Formats: sequence, structure tokens, C-alpha cells
Amino acid sequence: MYYNKILQWKRSFQDRIISTIRRYRCAWGFLFLWGLSLNVFSQEIKVSNLLCENQSNPIGLDIVHPALSWQLEGNKRGIIQSAYEIRVSNDSSSLIRGNNLVWRSEKIMSGQSVHVPYSGSLLKSGAKYYWQVKVWDNHGNSSKWSMPAYWQMGLLNASDWKAHWISRLPNGTSESPCPQFRNGFKVSKKIKSATVYVTSKGLYEAFINGRRVGEAHLTPGWTSYKKRLQYQVFDVTPLIKTGANAIGVMLGNGWYKSPLGWGSVFNTEIKDRTLALLFQLEITYSDGSTDLIVSDENWKSSTGFIMKSEIYAGEVQDARQEKKGWLLPDYDDKDWNHVVAAAEENSAVIATYNELVKEHEIFKPLKMFRTNEGDLIVDFGQNMTGYEEIKVYGKAGDTIVVSHAEILDPEGNFYTKNLRTAKAESRYILSGEGEETLKPHFTFYGFRYLRIEGISGDAAPENFSAISLYSDMKPTGSFSCSNPLINKLQQNIQWGQKSNFLDVPTDCPQRDERLGWTGDAQVFCSTAAFNMHVYNFFAKWLKDLSIDQFKNGSVPYVIPHVLDSVSSGSTGWADVATIIPWQMYLSYGDKRILEAQYPSMKRWVDYMKNRSKNDLWATGFHIGDWLYFIPEGDYDGRAAVTNKYLIAQCFYAHSTQLLINAARALEKDSDVEYYSNLLKRIKTAFAAEYITPNGNLVSGTQTAYLLALNFDMLPAQCVPVIVNKLIDNINDYGIHLTTGFVGTPYLCPVLTRYGHSDMAYKLMLQDTYPSWLYPVKLGATTIWEKWDGIKPDGSFQNPGMNSFNHYAYGAIGNWMYSTIAGINTDTIVPGYKKVIIKPQIGGNLTFASASLKTYYGEIKSGWKITSNQLVMDVEIPANTTATIYIPATNIDRITESKQGLMNRKDMTVVGQQGDYVIVILGSGKYSYTVNSN
Ligand code: BGC
Repeated sequence: MYYNKILQWKRSFQDRIISTIRRYRCAWGFLFLWGLSLNVFSQEIKVSNLLCENQSNPIGLDIVHPALSWQLEGNKRGIIQSAYEIRVSNDSSSLIRGNNLVWRSEKIMSGQSVHVPYSGSLLKSGAKYYWQVKVWDNHGNSSKWSMPAYWQMGLLNASDWKAHWISRLPNGTSESPCPQFRNGFKVSKKIKSATVYVTSKGLYEAFINGRRVGEAHLTPGWTSYKKRLQYQVFDVTPLIKTGANAIGVMLGNGWYKSPLGWGSVFNTEIKDRTLALLFQLEITYSDGSTDLIVSDENWKSSTGFIMKSEIYAGEVQDARQEKKGWLLPDYDDKDWNHVVAAAEENSAVIATYNELVKEHEIFKPLKMFRTNEGDLIVDFGQNMTGYEEIKVYGKAGDTIVVSHAEILDPEGNFYTKNLRTAKAESRYILSGEGEETLKPHFTFYGFRYLRIEGISGDAAPENFSAISLYSDMKPTGSFSCSNPLINKLQQNIQWGQKSNFLDVPTDCPQRDERLGWTGDAQVFCSTAAFNMHVYNFFAKWLKDLSIDQFKNGSVPYVIPHVLDSVSSGSTGWADVATIIPWQMYLSYGDKRILEAQYPSMKRWVDYMKNRSKNDLWATGFHIGDWLYFIPEGDYDGRAAVTNKYLIAQCFYAHSTQLLINAARALEKDSDVEYYSNLLKRIKTAFAAEYITPNGNLVSGTQTAYLLALNFDMLPAQCVPVIVNKLIDNINDYGIHLTTGFVGTPYLCPVLTRYGHSDMAYKLMLQDTYPSWLYPVKLGATTIWEKWDGIKPDGSFQNPGMNSFNHYAYGAIGNWMYSTIAGINTDTIVPGYKKVIIKPQIGGNLTFASASLKTYYGEIKSGWKITSNQLVMDVEIPANTTATIYIPATNIDRITESKQGLMNRKDMTVVGQQGDYVIVILGSGKYSYTVNSN
């Protein structure tokens, strides 16, 4: 009571300060008083970081109950939200006044601060909604209304599209010049807002009055185009002017029309691959009237300076062919052709859910040099995905050819053999008119090195840049420790992710592949969710997966599915259908992903069930433990070959278990029961077929042991036997891993689970082949496809299969965050609402620390060893609780804020478990000191 009075007094004092400021409007006075008020009367609790569908102020949503999330901030320990209130209006000033609301949730007594569904009146197509939230906490504090945030709806009905699809005749092949389209329009009234809705078959780049629409690249991105084509929405208010205006749009083949996959295999579902544009501009004037400018038969088309553009081949530009001024209103397009306009049914046209691809890091040359073969090379020091930007002067008709490579060969020469048939080349023909800036528009490359041909005069390093491209996901995680090689490994894992999260999760960015390989994605998804916020990225891709899944439930090797119909149903690859939805649920705590994917998860499990005999799934082709260890000239069976059907049975069980987990979370009781019975039978069938009478497995490989242990395939009495076999096997290879894609992610986690973290550390710190640090020692800047992309004798692996930018083996990242630094979510209360911090000290590391930005705020966990102390620092965000495992054998040796742990209000000691003392606590920063004596 008394406390509330003080608060009231504080607030009225603050109000008086504000009215004084208003009265005197003195800037210095304002700053002084504002600072003072912040210091002296800082809010006990604040709300910040408002997200709608995981994005800050998204525009173009088609979800009618968008999910709202926010963060609580406060200085006190143990803050828990006790209630919230949300208000939403389609007018920002009404919102602040609390009038004309489309939704007022009223005060809801709940701790939920993430994924709260909008539940107000019906949201309208194209409308913008402003929202605020206010919270109450368990200490009796209430926040002010948060700063307003907004979201804007996309077009909710196919009939909202008034635009027509326009294309250019003749169609041309994938080698034809890129079409471009233009139209003009007039504005005579004052504009309030202008919004563009745009998509294309092929890729587009749009301009209004010469200025680019949005900052995204490779739009509209890559989906299973026939059934799902995303459109984008951009606020273009500042681009429009009174008087004459011009719209110009270029199209490129992109994923829609470039040959993809190997050989001539091409998904035949789309017969007609004509590039086409759908463009709708809605202008709202200050007087409330509106105008719609749409793509239709009045638009004109031509070609321009992009002579050819393909994903694998690269781009050819001839600056002499540029139609000068075509993006501006006064351009005379009388020589341009009319377009073909078609009013198609737009049911496959959907709003964008994931973050768009944007330009990120810009690298300048580390060095430029000539090779022995005389090539001029630019080295950017980092293997990545993106393209070059080069500034040059030259004569009209001069041709500059830029080739891309990941690596130099052992003699130091430019090496492109591992790109296979991908030409990966930019060819620029200059206009000769002053400084020219060269950069591709509709393609990308995987590269660290450029070879430059045709440049006259000195090539100055400052004229060369490499620009990285990837989906604009928020970085969320960091990890570092006292071992610089591990830190480099962490950086390489992150670059593997940046290089391969380009609208879809690709296997590699450089050779004639760059496809959404499902196995690679499932292997890496948990690590990915530490490094970046990947919820929307995967949620969008999983929708394509459900759509591309065959009628019988089989899942294609790659999503979007662009291969032939037999390329599906491989164990470990197709299980992506259950693994990623479950992982996203754990990492982000949003049940909607399980609801959305549940039918697809079930169809995959049923596919395996339908192909099983007596609950044993032992049919069909499987990729197996891809790229496992095979020593050169293996004559004595040292290659780590795992029986593919043993793998299949383990993943059959795993997917069934994940389906049961999902069914439980979604309260589908009869499915829980049905699939639990099935799971028992799957395990019995495994034991009968793959466990020998003496308790061994038919495949004596690390991968076989790991899968059996990780997926709980073994009767209890076999477990210690198999654990010992695993350890013996690792020792037998001189403490080396021998796992391929399938086994690698489970290696260190299984060792830790069975009490062998010391061995996990030894494997992680191993730096001879095969190991994680072997490539690091050889100067890798990304994760390699093969453990020995460069062999110990310095020669390269077979170029038919040797990418230097494949993220799969980066799956160790999960163990680094969750075990070395110890950051975990409780699986029953996922999404880090309940945090578990359980670090595992070892590997001669003297410190390790990690952080993870969650919906609730940043979690930090770090430890440091000095001669006689261990210091463990943790930070737990508001509105969460945490269970902390402090590495100590005796509670009396631990202090926090110079006090012992017993009888504290801010934490509860649960007890001792093995080498840990366990405490439960709420939000705040804690520093534990464990004295060794
Ligand atoms: C891809 C892999 C993929 C594999 C499976 C390769 O060509 O690059 O990452 O998982 O094929 O067969």
C-alpha cells in the first residue's frame, strides 16, 4: 500500500516535470530534467522490443491473428509478469489516447509475454495497426504503456489483386536478355502513404523514379512456385512525387527459370516458365481518396543491359545496352513493346513470412596478387555467399570477366574445378562513360577469391568489394572461450550458416547445386537456432516441405523439390519433416509450428510404417551416413560404414518419438497412445534385427552406437556395453571421429549424456584429420563438406564432391552453446521460458561464455577458472525462471554476491547432484564463486 503511494507520488512528480518542460520548451532544461527523472525515478519495470510475428514492425502479413511478443525490463531480481494489457488501433494518435481501438485485451492475469494472438476485430487487407502493451509484475509494479509498434496487413484475398500478370513476348530461353517493364503515372494531390505489393515469376528489382523499391535482393525468394509464390510489400511513400512518376522493373531468371539440379533434371511441374511481373501500387492521399496503379496491358517492355543471368552460370551485362533514363518519368518509351497481360487466379500468391535476403558484410581485399599462371586475384579473406562490386574506368566495349573461387590450388593458382559445371562468372562489357560500378543483379556466388580479367591499368584494391548476401535473420547467439581455434571454429560455423541461409537452407552456395537439401538442414537446425533467429526462415521452408511432400508421405531430398520423383524418402533426410518442427518448438516455444506441420510429420511416419514389415523398415534407397570416414586405400575395413537399414530403423523410431512429443503438446491423446505402441514395436524390431546375441550392434561404427544410444533403441542392459564400445572405437581411431552427416550431431551430446564429456572435449580439440579443428588449422574460414577437403598431403579431395562451404558438420555448435557454456531450454516449458544452465567444464579451457537473445531477453552463461576459484556468471531475463547447475561438489564453497546460498530470498537451493549444486532462481545477474578449498 505504502509502496504504491510512493509510486503514485513519483509519477505525479514526473508528470509535473514534463508539464514544466512543455511550458518552458527549453532544450537544455528538458535534457537535464529528463536525465534527472530517469536517474532518480527510473521505472521499476519497462516493456520493450515489441514483435509481431517475430519481427519488429512487419509489413505485409496475411495472418489474421498475428502473434504479439514483448520483453520486460527491470533492475530487480526475479521479475515475473503477472498481467498484461494490449491495445491496438489503426490510428497512431488514437492509440496513445486509448480511443478508437480495434482491440483492447483488458487486463489479462497471465505471465504470457510471447506469441499472444491478436484477438480483436477483423483485420483488413492492407491496413496498418499500431499497438502497445502494458504489464504488471509480481513485485506490484506496473509499467507505462510501451512505445507504440505497428504491423501492416498484406492483401488478404486473391480478389484484392487488381494487377495483371504481365510478360514480354517473345519469351526467350534462360539465356535471353532480361526483360524490363515500365509505366508512368501522375500524382496531383498531397500523398499520405504509398504501398507497393509486388511479386514475379523469376526475380525482380523494382524502381520508382529511379530509386530502388526496398532493400531486399533476390526477391521474391524461392518457394515451391507452383503452389506458393510470396509477394512483398514496401512502403514507398518517400519515392513518389507530385507530377509525373515512373515505375521500372527488371526481371531475371533466378530459381524460377535457371536450370537447377544436375544434368538435365528439372522439376517438370511448371511447364511454362515465362518471366512475369505482378505489381500493384496503392496511393492514399491526404484527403482520404486513393489511387491504384497496377501492372496491365498499358505497360511497356524492352530489354536492357542484363544480357544473360542464371543462378549457376552467373551474369552477363553490357552497359552499352542500357536504356538511358528508362527509370525516369520523362523517358520516351515509344519504341518499347506492348506487354502481354493476363488476369490469373492468384491463389498461389501469398504474403512473405520469412526475412528477405539482404546485403550484409562488405569485405575489402585482404590482398591482390598475380598467380604463377599470371592471373590477377583478389583475396577477401572470407569464404562467403554474395557478389562483387567493382568500380572501373574503361573504353566502350572493354570486357571485364570476374570468376569466383573458394580456394587456391596447392600451387597457389585459381581453382574452380570443385564448382563442377557452374560457370560462376560475371562478364561486364563497359559503356566507356566515366566510372562504372559493376555488380550482378539476379545471381550469387560462393567465393573468397575473384579472378579479374580485362581490367586496364592498375587495379586498385579500394575499387573492389565483396558483399555478403543472406536472409536478414537477427543474430542471437555468441560463443567464445580461451581456445582461439575453437573460437575460429565458431566463426566458421556462423559463416557456414550465413552462406547457406539464402531464403532456403542450401547445402552449398558455389557449385551446380545450391539446393534445399533436407538432411543438411535437419542436422544443423539446433545450432542454427542458437546463432540466429531462424523461426520464420524455417517456418516458411517447412510449408514448402508440406506442399512438396508426396501423396504417400515421402519427403523429397531437396525443398523446394526440383529433382526427379525418385529423389525422396531417404532416412535422415526425410526426417527433417519431424526434426525441424520439433526443434523450432523447443527453441521458440510456439505451438503453431507443431499445429501447422503435424499432418506432414504424421504422413512421414506413416510412410515408414507402410513400408515396414513386422515393424522393420528395411526397404528402399538411403543416402546413409553421408561422407563418413574412408581412409585412403582402405584395405583393412577401417572405413566407418554403417548399415543403412540400421540407420533407417533408428530414425524411424526418432521421428515416431517426435510425433508423439508433438501429439502430446497438441493434446492429441489417441495419437499419443497409438504411436507410443508403434514406437515400442519399432524398438523391439530393432533389437531383434540389429543387436547381436552378445549385445553388440551389427555395425561396429561410431554412428551406429550414437544413433542407438541417442534414440534410446537399446534395452537397458545393453547401454553400458554400447557406451564402452563407442569409447573403444574412438580410442581405436586414435581419438578421432569417423562419423558422417548422420552421426556427427550426436557425437558430443551422447558422450556427455553417458558421462564422457572428457572424451567429447578430446574429440572437439583434436586437430588432425578427421576432426573439426583440422580444417581450422589449415586456414578454413567456413565449414567444409568433407573432413578432408584438403588432404593431409596437401592435395584436394575429388572435385566432383568437394565444397568448402557446407554447414552440416557445424552441428557441433549446439554442443558448444548447450554443454560447454550450458545454455538450454526446459523441454516441457520450451522457448527458454524455463532456462537450464548446466555448463560442463573441461578441455583445459580456462574460460568459456555464451549468450543467447531469446524472446524474453538475453541469457548469458560464462565460467572462468583461476588458480583456486571458479567464477560462474549468469544472466537470466525477466519473466523467466532458471535452474542453475553450479559445478561444485560442496555448497559451502559457493558464494554469490559475497554471501552463501542458503536461506536466500532470491534463489532456492535444490541440492547436490553429482558434481553440481543446483539452484532455482528468477531473472537477474548472478555471479557465483566456487572456492577450491
Ligand atoms: C549435397 C549434400 C547432400 C547430399 C546427399 C550432396 O550433393 O551437397 O549436402 O546432403 O548430396 O546425397
